[in-house]
Amino acid sequence: MKGIILAAGAGSRLYPASIPISKILLPVYDKPMIYYPITTLLLAGIKDILIITSPYDVDNFKKVLKDGSDIGVKFSYAIQEIPKGIAESFIIAQDFIGNSPVALVLGDNIFHGFGFSSMLKEVGKRTKGATVFGYQVQDPERFGVVEFDKNNRAISIEEKPKNPKSNYALTGLYFYDNNVVEYAKSLKPSDRGELEITDLNKIYLKNNALTVEILGRGFAWLDTGTFESLLQAANFVQSMEINTGMKIASIEEVAFRMGFISKERLYSLSQKYKQNGYGKYLEKICAQN
Ligand code: G1P
Repeated sequence: MKGIILAAGAGSRLYPASIPISKILLPVYDKPMIYYPITTLLLAGIKDILIITSPYDVDNFKKVLKDGSDIGVKFSYAIQEIPKGIAESFIIAQDFIGNSPVALVLGDNIFHGFGFSSMLKEVGKRTKGATVFGYQVQDPERFGVVEFDKNNRAISIEEKPKNPKSNYALTGLYFYDNNVVEYAKSLKPSDRGELEITDLNKIYLKNNALTVEILGRGFAWLDTGTFESLLQAANFVQSMEINTGMKIASIEEVAFRMGFISKERLYSLSQKYKQNGYGKYLEKICAQN
């Protein structure tokens, strides 16, 4: 399974904060936002990851993440010249995807909750059809919305509907079989001029090949699209980390726990940040394992 992180948006809703640097590299408490979607892919067992960025930001992403070998994975980079929709990712990434199934996560989507790792491990093994994730929200009209029948089977999906048929938003995490590339090429731009991920999901739904996993209450799917929600996300991460003494989305820790790097490598990574709590945390993980 290959992985894609779409990190190409202008992030203009966070201007001026995101003028100097991509929104996806802004900090969410103690780490750049992109650490969170990277963690999501790592937990699904994905080690080969393509990061799609705008032409202006690609060098900054490379500066932060390099080629991934530090954490035992492979990062490569591709450019989306103009934001023409999430589904365009699969056309841009065609060569990278090859004959594999592929997962896509949006760079600003932060997930945290009990049981997420085991769910991802399971979903990461699927090679047929598509799997998407539904989450109950107060304002479904801002998202792709999924409607269920009495047996909890998905029956419709709509992008940003004025009159949502349910409160279940589809999050920005998608797993597809290899057909996704051909399906993406068959899409026509929507009224907002984008190749819509919702239109891709509708193809899988029509073919009876779409699984919707529900992320239940108690699960956090955090928004980072506004000044308020970005700060709230940071506060959430801070309070979870302080309460539990464990970090959310430390890619170094996750790579170690997934068996991608040795304890010695983790220790040497910890020394880059040894003057602060992040480095001390990684040192502690080494000492405890
Ligand atoms: C996009 C998708 C939408 C999905 C959302 C999740 O919305 O189009 O279906 O629910 O991501 O973050 P956009 O970021 O384009 O508003």
